[in-house]
Amino acid sequence: MNKFMDPDQQEPEKHTHLKTFAKEINEGLSQSPKRISSKYFYNKRGDELFQSIMRMEEYYLTDAEFEILSLQKEEIAEAIKYSDGKFQLVEFGAGDGYKTKILLNYLLEMGANFEYVPIDISANALTQLCEDLASEMPDLKVNPLGKEYFKALDDLKANELRKVVLFLGSNIGNFSLQVAQDFLKEISSRLNSNDLLLMGVDLKKDPHVILAAYNDSDGITKAFNINVLNRINEELGGDFDIFNFEHFPVYDPVTGSTKSYLISKRPQTVSIAELDKQFYFDQGEPIDMEVSQKYSTKDLNSLAENSGYEVIKYYYDCKNYFTDTLWKIKS
Ligand code: AVI
Repeated sequence: MNKFMDPDQQEPEKHTHLKTFAKEINEGLSQSPKRISSKYFYNKRGDELFQSIMRMEEYYLTDAEFEILSLQKEEIAEAIKYSDGKFQLVEFGAGDGYKTKILLNYLLEMGANFEYVPIDISANALTQLCEDLASEMPDLKVNPLGKEYFKALDDLKANELRKVVLFLGSNIGNFSLQVAQDFLKEISSRLNSNDLLLMGVDLKKDPHVILAAYNDSDGITKAFNINVLNRINEELGGDFDIFNFEHFPVYDPVTGSTKSYLISKRPQTVSIAELDKQFYFDQGEPIDMEVSQKYSTKDLNSLAENSGYEVIKYYYDCKNYFTDTLWKIKS
């Protein structure tokens, strides 16, 4: 059970989630091109598949960010601590905290005066993370928030503590360019002049390296995409035949957008009982599943400028595949 929520609230909440899922699937499959939001990848099975993706040889992103945080933790920790005053380390989409623990450990070691505020809409992930942290770092003060990011920041505004927002793992890449800019603006408008943002971003590079990360030979990324169709079958009474869809990722080296599509292998009609509706797919018709946007340093300079920040520093891994970049609010 999710210990961060009143038990009486859990059933209605589940019901609301299902209604929103049904509504968004209906809207997405009624559009042209058809689309399904990648936020629906992450149920229990999706979380497990993503864990497998992060362990894949081809998926270089996790190792690259792990390297940055491991090898440059002193400098990063000094930069985010920067004074003796207490601060809140607020992490968006904390997940299992695999990489964040490097920073948390080092900040504790250096005696930094801070509290860790992991934010995740997945209550399961938060509960698991808090249990891990309680046993691995008993001295760490943890204040988890199972809320949407902006709502959580609004709530945290009530205290005067300096904020350092962590948005790691190239999660920003799962927004289109415009949505990323709007999202970052929303954050900057909720932060004060001495607050900071540390964001992990996957960089433009050899297109083969990028494409392989989203097209692994074991078919794990394919299963990650297909899992959404299984979710629709299980939760909304759909009758998708998953063998009738093919995983098709593409990378555009000019714009830096990596996109994943599921392609209908034949003309077919799919029924979704919960929607009391049928959806027709042409042979070769795509469902737009996910964007994983890649940036150059120049792109990131513009993104910072256009969303209310100044870049303090780029930390890179040894191959220059990935960056964790530290931004402050533009004065
Ligand atoms: C979570 N996110 C940053 C991953 C990415 O690289 O876009 C999700 C993912 N999709 C396919 N593989 C990994």
